Amino acid sequence: MPTKPLRTLSALRRETARWRSDGLRYAVVPTMGAIHEGHLQLVREGLKRADRVITTIFVNPKQFAAHEDLGSYPRDESGDLRKLAQAGSHAVYLPRLEDIYPQYFATTVSLNGPAKTGLEDKFRPEFFTGVTTVVAKLFLQTGAEIALFGEKDYQQLKVVTQMARDLDIPIKVVGIPTVRESTGLAKSSRNAYLSPSEEKTAISIHQNLLRTAEAIRSGQAPTRAAAAATRRLTAAGLKVDYFEARNSETLARPRMAGEPLRLLAAAWVGRTRLIDNMKV
Ligand code: PAF
Repeated sequence: MPTKPLRTLSALRRETARWRSDGLRYAVVPTMGAIHEGHLQLVREGLKRADRVITTIFVNPKQFAAHEDLGSYPRDESGDLRKLAQAGSHAVYLPRLEDIYPQYFATTVSLNGPAKTGLEDKFRPEFFTGVTTVVAKLFLQTGAEIALFGEKDYQQLKVVTQMARDLDIPIKVVGIPTVRESTGLAKSSRNAYLSPSEEKTAISIHQNLLRTAEAIRSGQAPTRAAAAATRRLTAAGLKVDYFEARNSETLARPRMAGEPLRLLAAAWVGRTRLIDNMKV
């Protein structure tokens, strides 16, 4: 099925107005491009829940710190459009910078709660404000009823869910389980940076998430189990930013036995920073 590239906000509005007047429900899959199997899975899940799926591709400068990889972030527009068409995305919104941040743009959306829990926010202080600002705009510009996000970026999923709820944006945010390589490595656009030997090292993040979840289920204290994983990963040559068990809804530190937990991890393999998480 061909996918329709929509390169301006007015083109997006024309297309979505048509869908609404035809009574069609539509879902949005926000991305920064470098489309991989994880994104395609979000499109397929969107197709199960809505009549139309629109994927957005916008490499959002506001969520990159000055020292981060905005300039080198992988870009492959023709490959992305081809893959999204094959997966069945009906349209792809590729806004220009001025469609998202017009001249004199002066508003930011930022929140506390899951965005300020000392995980990604501790290492990337501006990140979630950049994400919530752009995602709020994409939700409002598309007017979609459903939005699909990967659970791989688990804190991001919780943050955008809270943001939509707090701002009464009429959209249902749905989290979709992480798509993994056969080795267990979570699919990510940044995996493209890994050399073959780094890719082997990176697998230990998933292996340690599995082992730690099992240890906690068998009765080990979450903090001890996570600290042991950090030591193992460090010994394997990774630089660990965090490896923690948190309440799976609030992302607060665990306080009582039996609360639902999620392990969340971020670690550097060489010059590549990877994140992953797992339900306990
Ligand atoms: O997860 C991403 O790719 C980005 O953070 C998002 C949600 C598309 C916002 O730019």
